Amino acid sequence: RGISENFTLPTGTYFLSEVDIEGRVRLVMESALTARDRVGVQDFVLLENYNSEAAFIENLRRRFKENLIYTYIGSVLVSVNPYKELEIYSKQQMERYRGVSFYEISPHIYAVSDNTYRAMRTERKDQCILISGESGAGKTEASKKILLYYAVTCPMNDHMAALGDRLLQSNPVLEAFGNAKTLRNDNSSRFGKYMDVQFDFRGAPVGGHILNYLLEKSRVVHQNHGERNFHIFYQLLEGGDEDLLNTLDLERNPQNYQYLVKGNCPRVSSISDKNNWKVVMKALPVIGFTEEEVQKLLNIIAGVLHLGNTQFGEGEEGETYITTETQITKLVKLLGVDGSALREALTHKKLTAKGEEMISPLNFEQAISARDALAKAVYGRTFTWLVEKINQSLALKDEIYHSNKGSSVIGLLDIYGFEVLQHNSFEQFCINYCNEKLQQLFIELTLRSEQEEYETEGIAWETVQYFDNKIICDLIEEKHKGIISILDEECLRPGETCDVSFLEKLEDTLGGHPHFVTHKLANGKTRRVMSREEFRLLHYAGEVNYNVNGFLDKNNDLLNRNLKEVMCQSDNQILSRCFRREEVMDQKRPEMAATQFKNSLMKLMEILMSKEPSYVRCIKPNDAKQPGRFDEVLVRHQVKYLGLMENLRVRRAGFAYRRRFEAFLQRYKPLCPETWPNWHGRLVDGVSTLVNHLGYKPEEYKLGRSKIFIRFPKTLFTTEDALEAKKPEIVIVIQSGWRGMKARRRAKRRRQAAELIRRFIKGFIYRHEEYCPENEYFLDHVRYSFLKNLRKNLPKSVLDKSWPTPPPLVVEASEHLRTLHMRNMVVKYCRRVQPEWKKQMVQKVVASEIFKDQKDNYPQSVGRLFLDSRLGTNVRPCAPQYGASVTKYDRRGFKPRPRQLLLTNTFAVLVDRTKIKQRIDYTALRGISVSSLSDGMFVLHMPSEDSKQKADAVLQCDHVIELVTKLAMMAGKIDYVNISPGSIRFTVARGKEGIIDFVRGSEMKVTKGKRGHLLVTVPRTNTT
Ligand SMILES: Nc1ncnc2c1ncn2[C@@H]1O[C@H](COP(=O)(O)OP(=O)(O)O)[C@@H](O)[C@H]1O
Ligand SMILES: [Mg+2]
Repeated sequence: RGISENFTLPTGTYFLSEVDIEGRVRLVMESALTARDRVGVQDFVLLENYNSEAAFIENLRRRFKENLIYTYIGSVLVSVNPYKELEIYSKQQMERYRGVSFYEISPHIYAVSDNTYRAMRTERKDQCILISGESGAGKTEASKKILLYYAVTCPMNDHMAALGDRLLQSNPVLEAFGNAKTLRNDNSSRFGKYMDVQFDFRGAPVGGHILNYLLEKSRVVHQNHGERNFHIFYQLLEGGDEDLLNTLDLERNPQNYQYLVKGNCPRVSSISDKNNWKVVMKALPVIGFTEEEVQKLLNIIAGVLHLGNTQFGEGEEGETYITTETQITKLVKLLGVDGSALREALTHKKLTAKGEEMISPLNFEQAISARDALAKAVYGRTFTWLVEKINQSLALKDEIYHSNKGSSVIGLLDIYGFEVLQHNSFEQFCINYCNEKLQQLFIELTLRSEQEEYETEGIAWETVQYFDNKIICDLIEEKHKGIISILDEECLRPGETCDVSFLEKLEDTLGGHPHFVTHKLANGKTRRVMSREEFRLLHYAGEVNYNVNGFLDKNNDLLNRNLKEVMCQSDNQILSRCFRREEVMDQKRPEMAATQFKNSLMKLMEILMSKEPSYVRCIKPNDAKQPGRFDEVLVRHQVKYLGLMENLRVRRAGFAYRRRFEAFLQRYKPLCPETWPNWHGRLVDGVSTLVNHLGYKPEEYKLGRSKIFIRFPKTLFTTEDALEAKKPEIVIVIQSGWRGMKARRRAKRRRQAAELIRRFIKGFIYRHEEYCPENEYFLDHVRYSFLKNLRKNLPKSVLDKSWPTPPPLVVEASEHLRTLHMRNMVVKYCRRVQPEWKKQMVQKVVASEIFKDQKDNYPQSVGRLFLDSRLGTNVRPCAPQYGASVTKYDRRGFKPRPRQLLLTNTFAVLVDRTKIKQRIDYTALRGISVSSLSDGMFVLHMPSEDSKQKADAVLQCDHVIELVTKLAMMAGKIDYVNISPGSIRFTVARGKEGIIDFVRGSEMKVTKGKRGHLLVTVPRTNTT
């Protein structure tokens, strides 16, 4: 194998092959999650030596020690009672098993539950789970876990949640009335239970139904030492409050009641009767019991106790009478029956002979057995009523059921397993017969499904060696010749019959049958271990001796007719339902107990046959109910009586192991160079190539249509071992592959980074060169960066003159962009400008052309809007375009006079209030002069030769810029505006000139200066 010990991965150290001491029980590698899960084999089918009981038990034991209580035999789940709470039933665990294929994770009751549920959903076929095992092996717990799994994981609405609640709540009630403490189990179910859970087409539970089988009624009147009566009696006495006990005429001490003292075991440490009482009382209303019904039910329970305390005496003439009259009074009250009729019926028997009714007194023993028969009948029938009542509450509403074609059912059978006691009686006979039938069903269904699988896979069917137990079933149930028929006959035969005569009859009829032996028929060796009153059946699981004592009575299950009559008339509704008048009227004898049981079993088989079965086989590891103890003798006994070896043989009869091609190939492909790492051809060819490479011999395997079948586990284990040995290699391959890929990836990225840096540096060096391969990357990058930066930092308004400094490479482009951007902004701006504003702008632009940098007070004027008029509203002759107040200085003497200057489209006028003083035609206007300072003086130059026009006008205005701009625009004489820095010359009259001098001073002053000049002192402007 090469590598022999172990290998280490980041996840831990792995041992290559764990082989047990004998080297027989090997690991199943498949589906194992943790090393712990791999103790032993998870599936007995993979046991090499499948005929060895010792290997089987050793595997169970090893797993049990690790708290691995579940193991498969194919699809059968074997469960060993741990007798302690394990942390494997949480909601998370449920989730783990949900929707996961059966063999993928460790065996579990949830896997069976889930698999069954999914099979029901996907195949639309009814399912059933058969749970069997000895008393105390964990059947009822298993069935509860399955129910809980469905209650938690199935889709539900409110209505269904209520149903789920009722399903779960019915359990404590059934257990209170149908379970008891026995030597084997403190909470032993004393009846067989088959429960159907109905699911609708969405897979939600919508209804339930319970069938009950063979309640152990004899327990009502008698218990073996150390055992108890049904729980409900003790619960009532322990938990019922004073008032309740008073109305029922009960005392709290169970020792006071004859029916409770036989086992001498009123209390059990593991059971809290008080708490359970509360649980039951809470559950009853949930499953639909009215207060009145609960009361009537408790009356009956108390009635049974009082019946037990009813005693008889023997008169001098052998007649029997009742010694405890008070009991009768209590019974009358509680059972609602007629006192004297009851008294009579308990001590006399009504017979019909030759068409005449006769009353005959009972002797002491007969009276006692009549009383006990009544107690058993009352309790037994009440139990049946209770189950029916629960069924009503769980019933699927008819209309839903019928409208619900897609609905399916999962059945749960929790029934007594094979029972072999020291003394086996009628009950054990029935129970073992039941198991015989279940085994028959198992064989039939398992073989059938095997055969079906072979057929679908196209593999020839090979006969399987197994024990067919039909012969035993026939021995018991065959008409006329079977044990049950003989028993019935013996019960009905007129004349003296007794258990011994029944035994003789059996010997006569069945003597020589290979599975039937009695003391008389046996050889010496067997004789020694059999009593004369016993017959022995060789069941499929083993031999059991049955003592015939009591068979006839138990089969008869007789209740005197007059007692039935009394009960019919009861005014307790439950009792009057349980004892129907028709039954008394009917002269036909009711069916015997065994036949009844046989018939109900037949029905059960029919129900189960119509369903797809799964099996849970429960084993109890020790009799002491202790955790951690594995009693091999006890377990071997159960393995035998559960027929587990037989199960395994049937499963192993053909091929031990089968797996779909893809799963098989996926798992083992590393073992063959052709299939590793991937097979691209047909799956079947891949598998074929693989097994050829592995050296499978033709008899070791077969290839079906979609699966490979392997006959011996050994073949599979060898393959598994090979895979294990291969694993380190694979690990190394995968590891190196992965590392290599990571390293290559890193190196590649480094190379790329270095290359980039190199290009950058080169580009930087060549950055001033022409665009060339050396610098293209760098230059592109510079351009790109600039543009990207520019995009983020573009000026937002026309006035914003900022602009990122471009690198030399893109100066030109930058300038283009800048202009473009500016234009763009301007266009956008202009589009938004209103006509009013436009006019303003036009004038401002003109003002700027004329005055900018020419006249001191121009800057102040920029911010002020030009108005349409600077006059009050009253002066508006001939619709002027503009008007402003001005001061006119006489040309001679410079006397100031207030005037208004009005501008029209073709001329301007100087007006003294309403009188036009001077008209200035624009066509005649020769020029407009202003100073460069911030004064408001301006001169309108007129041609002196034109006599129509007066000479130049010397004017002053506070809004000189506005006024001059408008005038120049209207007159179309923008170019005629002169701005003189020092002085303005103007014409006073023809040939005579005047001069205005401008000087800077501290304040604004207009005075006469030297040589007859006009002197204008202008303060400096604050150009802020
Ligand atoms: N899976 C389990 N985990 C823990 N305890 C269990 C389990 N199964 C059974 N037990 C214990 O064993 C007892 C008997 O089980 P029960 O199901 O009543 O047996 P059965 O129905 O087969 O007679 C239970 O009361 C419980 O204490
Ligand atoms: Mg049980």
